[in-house]
Amino acid sequence: MTLIVENLSKSFGATSVFSNVSFSIEKGEIVCIKGKSGEGKTTLLRCLTTLETPDGGSIKINDRYLYKEDNGGIQTASKDNLQEIRQEIGLVFQSFNLFPHMNVLENLMLAPNFLNKRSKEDIEKRAEELLKQLGMEGKGDSYPYQLSGGQKQRVAIARACMLYPSILCFDEPTSALDEDTRGQISEIIRSLAGQDIAIIIVTHDNAFVDEIAERVITMSGGTIYES
Ligand SMILES: Nc1ncnc2c1ncn2[C@@H]1O[C@H](COP(=O)(O)OP(=O)(O)OP(=O)(O)O)[C@@H](O)[C@H]1O
Ligand SMILES: [Mg+2]
Repeated sequence: MTLIVENLSKSFGATSVFSNVSFSIEKGEIVCIKGKSGEGKTTLLRCLTTLETPDGGSIKINDRYLYKEDNGGIQTASKDNLQEIRQEIGLVFQSFNLFPHMNVLENLMLAPNFLNKRSKEDIEKRAEELLKQLGMEGKGDSYPYQLSGGQKQRVAIARACMLYPSILCFDEPTSALDEDTRGQISEIIRSLAGQDIAIIIVTHDNAFVDEIAERVITMSGGTIYES
């Protein structure tokens, strides 16, 4: 199993966002997470990608614990493991979060260059390969302001794929897109799943869920159920 979430809970101060959230996802699966505004969907994705630390429960990615329940509290993976496990899961933000002062290639290469595990040439090759795969060939020198919403979305997807993740999370991937562009994004997501990446999509867009979801999980009242 690629991702196993068990009894995960998260509060902000005295307010519990969710508790006892458990689900698992296999490689290549496309799972949509629905739920009303404020139910904790973004918070769940932020916990999966270590932008927030859960209060309890566990998250296991490819048989390694990112967070582990420990005497009622939570223990984060050791510093050495954390970076590697963290790279297994990418997040495409709702607002794309591209760096506006960097061109497309620089946006893609920033994190891998920082990690300094592969040569600059390899990293650039990977970036060019992803841009080609996503129909963005020749756009490496463009700045985010020169791109359409759909193109920015693809750059954000390419950036999330730079480190060869086994899980990709999308927060409201279609909210800024028209119908045609939505169709292109679902094709891209399907092809990523076809490369064995497990896909988690948080969305309000029921038409998109119908189009793409293999499984649907709903967050409601601080927990989840699968329908
Ligand atoms: N950093 C934070 N500090 C305090 N409360 C927070 C923080 N982040 C989120 N919350 C609260 O947690 C709850 C869940 O928020 P979250 O953004 O996860 O909801 P959501 O399901 O993604 O909603 P939407 O569909 O509107 O995006 C909300 O009540 C929100 O106010
Ligand atoms: Mg949200």
